[in-house]
Amino acid sequence: MSDDKLKNVISHAKEYGFVFQSSEIYDGLSAVYDYGQLGALLKNNIKEYWWKAMVQNHENIVGIDSAIFMHPTIWKASGHVDAFNDPLIDNKDSKKRYRADVLVEDYLEKIRQKIQKELTKAATRFGETFDAEMYLKTNGRVVGYQNQITEIEDKLRDYLENSKLKEFKELIEELGIACPISGSKNWTDVRQFNLMFSTEMGSVAEDSSKIYLRPETAQGIFVNFLNVMKSGRMKIPFGIAQIGKAFRNEIVARQFIFRMREFEQMEMQFFVKPGDELTWYENWKEKRIKWHKNLGFDEGAYRFHDHIKLAHYANAACDIEFDFPMGFKELEGIHSRTDFDLKAHEKFSGKKLQYFDPEDNKNYVPYVVETSIGLDRMFLAVLSQSFKEEKLEDGSERVVLNIPNFLAPIKLAVFPLVKKDGLPEKAREILKQLKFKFQCQYDEKDSIGKRYRRHDAIGTPFCITVDHQTLEDNMVTIRNRDTMQQERISIGDIEKIVSESVSWETVLANLDD
Ligand code: GAP
Repeated sequence: MSDDKLKNVISHAKEYGFVFQSSEIYDGLSAVYDYGQLGALLKNNIKEYWWKAMVQNHENIVGIDSAIFMHPTIWKASGHVDAFNDPLIDNKDSKKRYRADVLVEDYLEKIRQKIQKELTKAATRFGETFDAEMYLKTNGRVVGYQNQITEIEDKLRDYLENSKLKEFKELIEELGIACPISGSKNWTDVRQFNLMFSTEMGSVAEDSSKIYLRPETAQGIFVNFLNVMKSGRMKIPFGIAQIGKAFRNEIVARQFIFRMREFEQMEMQFFVKPGDELTWYENWKEKRIKWHKNLGFDEGAYRFHDHIKLAHYANAACDIEFDFPMGFKELEGIHSRTDFDLKAHEKFSGKKLQYFDPEDNKNYVPYVVETSIGLDRMFLAVLSQSFKEEKLEDGSERVVLNIPNFLAPIKLAVFPLVKKDGLPEKAREILKQLKFKFQCQYDEKDSIGKRYRRHDAIGTPFCITVDHQTLEDNMVTIRNRDTMQQERISIGDIEKIVSESVSWETVLANLDD
């Protein structure tokens, strides 16, 4: 995939009402976006997919909805006030600001791509006898690349963990990293930058206090741990899930809805017995990748990436990366967070946040395995994987969104063949029966061919056409988005056909253990 593809996805998203730049008529607000009429539907369907898979499918997971504003001490306890920083660096010529670690990560990715190229070349040369594993271990050039990666990764980890900003700049210079805009290597020093937005709460200056817009939804779960455990009579292991807005003053706010300043997270904290956390960590890795692959996209579009820099509170962490139009990037994080957060809140609040284990007859602070996915990134993943520009057999072209049917914003479009002879009335009669079941749309403008194209472009799985024959035999034409096949069916069968194809039941049953 390429930059062109990203550009096409962005303009498609705007043209059809999926995503708009925020405050566009005022020239926009950087890294903030609005979801349009179809975007809101698709986003809600993705949320529902996550919520049903996590909460409805698991008897030991419950969902909450905590406030965005929280007591400011929470962010002291969580470490965000002191350590939620990004190392940033400016290019003096382009005046563009970058995350220093991202510049180095991009450099590493280029070396990985070189290895991949060598592998592809060798596979073609050696044919069926090619042993990729052996080649990676023995080919001089590839081994050299791999050593280079390890050496840079070690430095990166050290500099991030120990805030070695001077060395960070030296590494960028040593690697000869140039600004993608100006092409120059004229860099400022590396500085730390806190990502939290703050505001004042209180009506008069004297009694106002500084509060933060939450940078993650997870803390709303930790501080409600006791409330939920007691009121829900939860037994360990159990999870608390939440979907909600988060805010980060991102330095490098680029790449459409991939990195935003206001975004939405879908997070779940799973509370376990100390010592069991790594088993649960593996278990959640497996469950989450299954959730992604259940969408039916190319399986090669996903990969796990272990964190180079483990946060001080984590004893294991990885990302599920997705092949976005800009390449493989983080889509979801899975973190074994130990008892760090609950212990910190015990310390700062003075309240005991413990679980009494009836089997062991003792109290403990549970350990936590977290799964955390950005809803907007998931939206971009679905949109970019679904977006296809197809050349058809008759030489014409179409743009189609092969969105998994259960996620499609509009499930069914109903067309009268012409705008007269009682056909619109018949089509509306059908719509009236089905709109309580599915999100439907009525469309009578332009030729049937154009209407098909419009609905292909927004991912509508089924289109129904009412014609003169319909008035006599109650049969309509149903057209399938993916196969473009048309079939004559009776009006009474529409609901069954569409229901089966967009049903949540099969999707959720596939995820069951
Ligand atoms: N509670 C853990 C946590 O917040 P994170 O890796 O910082 O971990 C989790 O964020 C997920 O949130 C990421 O994998 C990503 O999908 C999403 N995310 C983070 N920052 C984002 C941003 N600026 N814009 C859009 N999504 C973002």
